[in-house]
Amino acid sequence: MIELKHSGLPLFLDETSHIMTPGGSLRMGGYSRKEAGAMKGLLMDESSLESQAGEPFYDVYRDIAFEKDKALLEEHQYRYDITIVMPGLIGGECKKTSGHYHGWTPEKTTTYAEVYEVVKGTALYVLQKSMNFDDKDPENVRVDDLILVTVPEGRTLLVPPGYGHCSVNIGEGPLVFSNLAYVPCPIHYDPVRYCHGMGAYICRTPEGIRFRCNDRYKELPKARFAAVKDEPEFGIREGLPVYKSFCENPGAFDFLAHPDAYTDRIMQMLVPCEDLIQL
Ligand SMILES: [Fe+2]
Repeated sequence: MIELKHSGLPLFLDETSHIMTPGGSLRMGGYSRKEAGAMKGLLMDESSLESQAGEPFYDVYRDIAFEKDKALLEEHQYRYDITIVMPGLIGGECKKTSGHYHGWTPEKTTTYAEVYEVVKGTALYVLQKSMNFDDKDPENVRVDDLILVTVPEGRTLLVPPGYGHCSVNIGEGPLVFSNLAYVPCPIHYDPVRYCHGMGAYICRTPEGIRFRCNDRYKELPKARFAAVKDEPEFGIREGLPVYKSFCENPGAFDFLAHPDAYTDRIMQMLVPCEDLIQL
C-alpha cells in the first residue's frame, strides 16, 4: 500500500490491484469501475478491444469526505471524487476517461468549470471548446479551440468554462486525480461519443508521447499545448491539497458555482509549453 500524500487525505493505493482504500474516519459515497469494453466507440483503434474487453480502464470513487466537512461541501454543493486511470495501452492509445462537456449555467452564457488535481502519476487533459456542443444535430458541433495540457504529480488544472475535457494517463503507473465539481452541473457525454472521442487521441510510441487528430471532427483547430500555473486567489497552490484548501477557504472556489466572472483568469492559468509531436 502506498499513501496518496498529495491528496492530503488518508487514502491508500494497493500497488498491484490499484484499488484505493480510505483510512481513519474518511468516508466514500460510491464506487464504480469502467472496463475497456465500455469504452467502445471512444477509442482510436478498437481492433484489440474484444480481447481486452474485461480489462479495468478506470475506477471512480465518489463523494469522499470526512463527516465533519460534509455540511460545508453540501452548503456549497461541491463534491470531491477520485478517479484512477489504469496504466497501459489499448491499440497504442493511452488509457483515458470517456470525456464530456459540462452543461450551461442558468444564464446560458457559459458552462461550469472543474478542478482536477493530479495526486499520483502524470496526466494529459484534452480540452476542447465548443459553444454549440448541445446542438440538436451533432454534425453541427464545432470545436473552436483544442488544448493539450500536461499536468505532473502534485499540480492542479482548472478546466475552463466552455471546454469539454477528458483525462489521459500518460505515465508508467496508475494515474490518480481528484476532482472538485459543482453538483448541479449537468454532464453531456453524447457529443463526444458521436465523434468517437475527443479531438485528439494520445498515444505512447517507443519515441514517447504523441497525439493524433480525430478526423471525425470537421475543421478541427490546430492543437495548442499548455502547462499549468498556480492561482492562490482560487485556492490553487503547489503543496496545498485541494481538499484542504477548500475546507480552509471555501470562498476561493466560487468560480465553480459562478464561472462567468472568472473565465479569463482561469484561462491565464494555462501557460504555453513545448509542442507534442503529431502522428
Ligand atoms: Fe467534468
